Amino acid sequence: MRIGILTAGGDCPGINAAIRGVGKTAILEYGMEVIGISSGFLGLINEEYVNLDENVLSGILTLGGTILGTSRENPFKKSNTFNAIDKPKLIKKHYQELGLDALVCIGGNGTQRTAAQLSEVGLNVIGIPKTIDNDVWGTDITFGFDSALWIATEAIDRLHTTANSHKRIMVIEVMGHHAGWLALYSGMASGGDVILLPEINFDINQVARCLKKRAINKKPYSIVVVAEGIPTPKGEGAGRYVANSIKELTGLETRETILGYIQRGGSPSPMDRVLATRYGAYAVELIAQKRFGEMVSLKGDTVTSVSLAEVGGKLRLVPEDHPLIEKARRMGVCFGTDAC
Ligand code: F6P
Repeated sequence: MRIGILTAGGDCPGINAAIRGVGKTAILEYGMEVIGISSGFLGLINEEYVNLDENVLSGILTLGGTILGTSRENPFKKSNTFNAIDKPKLIKKHYQELGLDALVCIGGNGTQRTAAQLSEVGLNVIGIPKTIDNDVWGTDITFGFDSALWIATEAIDRLHTTANSHKRIMVIEVMGHHAGWLALYSGMASGGDVILLPEINFDINQVARCLKKRAINKKPYSIVVVAEGIPTPKGEGAGRYVANSIKELTGLETRETILGYIQRGGSPSPMDRVLATRYGAYAVELIAQKRFGEMVSLKGDTVTSVSLAEVGGKLRLVPEDHPLIEKARRMGVCFGTDAC
């Protein structure tokens, strides 16, 4: 068999581990041929390929980013161009010309939706979920999340010491797109005093009351972890909005830090290396069994799969009654609601 592999959407640590997991299993266990497609779906449109032999797959396990490159190209998005080319048709043509028996798509929500659509038009597709946001429906976890959690937690740990020295409020904005997984877990891992998530309606006045109470109770500093996806007036940046509002409402000295792309860079954590490798290896099992149109997923500790048709277009958000939120509330963590 001849299989293609592409990586699409925002990068994250662990992608190369997944490519290696797919490639080595395909070549060594099944004698398949593996073709790498450059820059996500763009590579299938522009016919940019590389041969992924064993040598290319060696030494990439610990490497951040993606050796194949990525893009946010969505071939099914209606283009404004008058003479727009039919990208899905072109992709199908190139897939056939390449002689592919299957296509592995490593990506987040957008990628899984495109994978589902390509599956509908007749390509043999397998999805592998990745993203630091951990918001892909149908799996308990995406690889990339654990690495980003380490990075965010370490950064917040460092902000604790400078906050304490200066007796300040530190507002930290973490990524996560529309989901609050990274903010919730990094906030809890680093002992955040206030955690604001897109999934929980917060009142900024409640946040201010909570911070004033801490100051009155002689807490020298406070840590406020904010998900980038919280609603803000006029689309203002989450961290900036929260920090400015706190300054205005409390008069307390406040600083903001936006962690940004640092969260997506660098070497994957050991957990992500293992998870991505397991996902990659399982994707090849599915191909060998001709079980196409599936996305690899983790349920409990078992790697399994769900139908791409089910995954496409859905988001996995933090449930408001998540047990970690309940525990946090009982320990006095403020989520900006009346319950604080
Ligand atoms: O999906 C991963 C992510 O890093 C989000 O957390 C963030 O909102 C987005 O990608 C940033 O996208 P881009 O790379 O297009 O700036």
